[in-house]
Amino acid sequence: LKPFIRTLATAALAICVALPAAAADYTMRLSHGDNENNPTHKGALRFQELVEKYSDGRIEVQIFPSNQLGSEQEVAQALRMGSIESEILYTGNLVPLAPSVGVMMLPYAFTSNEEAHAAMDALKGPLNERLPKEAGVRVLGYFEKGFRVLTNDRREVKTLDDLQGLKIRVSKNNIAIDTFKSWGLDPIPMAWAEVFPALQQGVIDGQENPYTTAISSKFYEVQKYITEIHYLIWSGPIIVSERFYQGLPEDLQQALDRAGEEAAQYERQVSAEETEAAKKKLVELGMTLTGAPEDEAKWQEAAKALWPGFADDIGGAAWVEEATGIMNDAIA
Ligand code: MLT
Repeated sequence: LKPFIRTLATAALAICVALPAAAADYTMRLSHGDNENNPTHKGALRFQELVEKYSDGRIEVQIFPSNQLGSEQEVAQALRMGSIESEILYTGNLVPLAPSVGVMMLPYAFTSNEEAHAAMDALKGPLNERLPKEAGVRVLGYFEKGFRVLTNDRREVKTLDDLQGLKIRVSKNNIAIDTFKSWGLDPIPMAWAEVFPALQQGVIDGQENPYTTAISSKFYEVQKYITEIHYLIWSGPIIVSERFYQGLPEDLQQALDRAGEEAAQYERQVSAEETEAAKKKLVELGMTLTGAPEDEAKWQEAAKALWPGFADDIGGAAWVEEATGIMNDAIA
């Protein structure tokens, strides 16, 4: 009998090993446009871990980095339709679909990362009153990667005069386009995935993104100069399709909200540390870091004069007044 029992036990063990782990009740694909070396991806991994923890494994998060599911703007459209569940993307790539988030992009609205954090956190609730109707999405938390800095391979940009004639790529939204126009340029709007090859082939001379992106996307291989133009902070919401969110029981909605908030705190910390390391590394890799332009006041004056004209692009004058009030109170 003993060999028979042993055989039975072995068979039972084999069945247990072969059985897959209990499947989650919900699968949530999470798209983002950066590669795995960028703080965005590290924040995405933390979000995945926290969602799975707070949902007791009932929601599985599958991460798709590097625009694998489409450009940031294309995926945001898919969230509206409910055909992809979630995304982390630069605010500038969301604003054409969800104008109200554009208040985070008013040039020179923030003088530090801390100011941006306070504003983003205070705006989350009011934005979630608007975005489900406006774009079929809601915000779970806000990532941040510091100021966008200007890189180029032609010359050191210390003044507005130095900038003239450069072919600079910007994200596809009117705020970035008009801001660069106010500085005398004819900027080139382009999807993020196309930027590195365009720099490599000389289609463009430069671009603007955070220091950490210059490292993760290896811009140091094709760019020589960096200027801290301070006009925008890279802010990026974790957004979820409203259809998906409303299809979840309340406890799982709360799990997503909590995971989004905590993942954002983590990502901001990672980003701050990596920004400092990136500055040192970029110098070692041969780039010239110029700091702020000598005539920064002129850059600011030109760009800030555009604020009233942006109202229609970012949710209308009443919302801009309400949102800037919320932001100012949060910063004060
Ligand atoms: C862009 O410039 O399009 C974005 O900043 C890219 C990103 O999401 O990191």
